[in-house]
Amino acid sequence: MSTKKYNVGVIGYGWAAAAHIDAINATSQAQVTAVYSSRPLDAATLSAKHGSQIKVYDTVEALLADTSLHVVDITSYPSQHCAQAVAAAKAKKHIILEKPMANSMAEVIQIFEAAKQNGVKGCVCFECRFSSQMEATKAVIDQGLIGDIHYGEVDYYHGIGPWYGQYRWNIGKKDGGSALLTAGCHALDALLMCMPGEVDSVTSFSTKSKSEYFTPYEYDTSAVTILKFKNGSVGKCAAIVDCLQPYYFHTHLVGSHGSVLDNKFHSAKLKTDKAQWSELSMKMLDSGDVSDHPYQSQFQAFFDALDKNQDMPLTSFTDALRTFKVIFAADQSAATGGQPVKVA
Ligand SMILES: NC(=O)c1ccc[n+]([C@@H]2O[C@H](COP(=O)([O-])OP(=O)(O)OC[C@H]3O[C@@H](n4cnc5c(N)ncnc54)[C@H](O)[C@@H]3O)[C@@H](O)[C@H]2O)c1
Repeated sequence: MSTKKYNVGVIGYGWAAAAHIDAINATSQAQVTAVYSSRPLDAATLSAKHGSQIKVYDTVEALLADTSLHVVDITSYPSQHCAQAVAAAKAKKHIILEKPMANSMAEVIQIFEAAKQNGVKGCVCFECRFSSQMEATKAVIDQGLIGDIHYGEVDYYHGIGPWYGQYRWNIGKKDGGSALLTAGCHALDALLMCMPGEVDSVTSFSTKSKSEYFTPYEYDTSAVTILKFKNGSVGKCAAIVDCLQPYYFHTHLVGSHGSVLDNKFHSAKLKTDKAQWSELSMKMLDSGDVSDHPYQSQFQAFFDALDKNQDMPLTSFTDALRTFKVIFAADQSAATGGQPVKVA
């Protein structure tokens, strides 16, 4: 029985889908009532596992034709995102879309335009913006505690080798795309949240580890991007998918009144001791499966915005478009050996 306002149909049933379903069912206004998967799934088992009545569809078309659904949540392989998101928009369903939105800028624009033309809202899973770490970091910036940021770096270090579930498709260019697209996008997006100015141009270089774990990758698995902002500030983002070390989401923001380094800070405004870091107590982004689970607050913000017929804060299609413009410009720069590329 549907008891809440929004019924959500999920496309795909892998790691992300399972995490999304529980997060959606925990929001005040929404429940998952349908799942499409290429594998046969048992509706009763799914319903019992996730605590909502879930129908199972064996084609995307059948799921989209379900008039009881208000929202479609796309958690499939990245190369399928564009066709499915455009079809969902045409079926007048609001869209939750896993990162990357798609694996080319042309496809990202197609999704953006289809949503606009059909009057549906979007939520892109850059859920790190809703994490405890980034919320606290952003609050420090917004309170002016480190002043105007002239340099910022946010880096992503996560070795995605054979020990990791997504490795089977992540190694291919078709679905993995690039180090930035497949994983580093979270760090670049977080950097752009902390540094809200317009990006003028980017320069990027990429390379690959000699470790046999990463040999099967069809693309460079380490990339470093320098960003030049129109207001004169500069930024840096490393996307490292081929490291052998613990997961690390590195954040260093340098401003006119102080700095934030991960969970440490100095603020001249607070008159803290510049010779020692002060500490921010918060849950850190410290695993590839985002154990801090910001999905729930992100989806809650999406449904709250749908209630008001507004774009959601922080991770709407418009917010994500800005990030993907920078990502695709960076990948273009890396492909040309580091030629600067203007961000359109
Ligand atoms: N925002 C995040 O932090 C985050 C984290 C992980 C994944 N993702 C994204 O979510 C999307 C899906 O990734 P995932 O982690 O769920 O990957 P996954 O490998 O668990 O699932 C990917 C796709 O494969 C399908 N699948 C899984 N096992 C299958 C099997 N045995 N046979 C046939 N199909 C199977 C799933 O239904 C899904 O459509 C990707 O776009 C990925 O980039 C985002």
